[in-house]
Amino acid sequence: MPKPIYVLNGPNLNLLGSREPHIYGTTTLEDVRVLCEARAVALGHTVVFRQSNHEGQLIDWVQEARQGACAVVINPAGYGHTSVALLDALKTLTIPIIECHLSNPAAREAFRRHTYVSLAATGVVSGFGAHSYELAIEAAAGQSAKADAPA
Ligand code: DQA
Repeated sequence: MPKPIYVLNGPNLNLLGSREPHIYGTTTLEDVRVLCEARAVALGHTVVFRQSNHEGQLIDWVQEARQGACAVVINPAGYGHTSVALLDALKTLTIPIIECHLSNPAAREAFRRHTYVSLAATGVVSGFGAHSYELAIEAAAGQSAKADAPA
């Protein structure tokens, strides 16, 4: 069994379902966790699914993923647009990093068009609501298999 895929969620995503539902939908973070687990299990993986409103906590989990994960899916939420420290932590990883957003930040306010996380990401999935996470799990599983394949 490969190491788990870490799915890390940033600030305010604990409020999914009731937070700006016209943008983020009515799916809760618990619903998202269930979707991620189902998709991962179907692909022969497990997930470690976490959320924090605190930048340092997210960084600690990224550091933990250096040893503990085969890939990271991260929805950095607002910290994606602001956190050089989170970028620096992600840059220490040698495993695939999939940046994931429910909305399509490129189609929103100008300040959302840039994310620091993208500078470290293997790829980005955005704009598909909760389905973005399922696509991100597929990408994480595929990329980690590719990274493990003999040359
Ligand atoms: C988000 C997009 C970010 O711009 C925003 O700050 C979030 C959620 C998304 O999933 O669409 O909190 O990451």
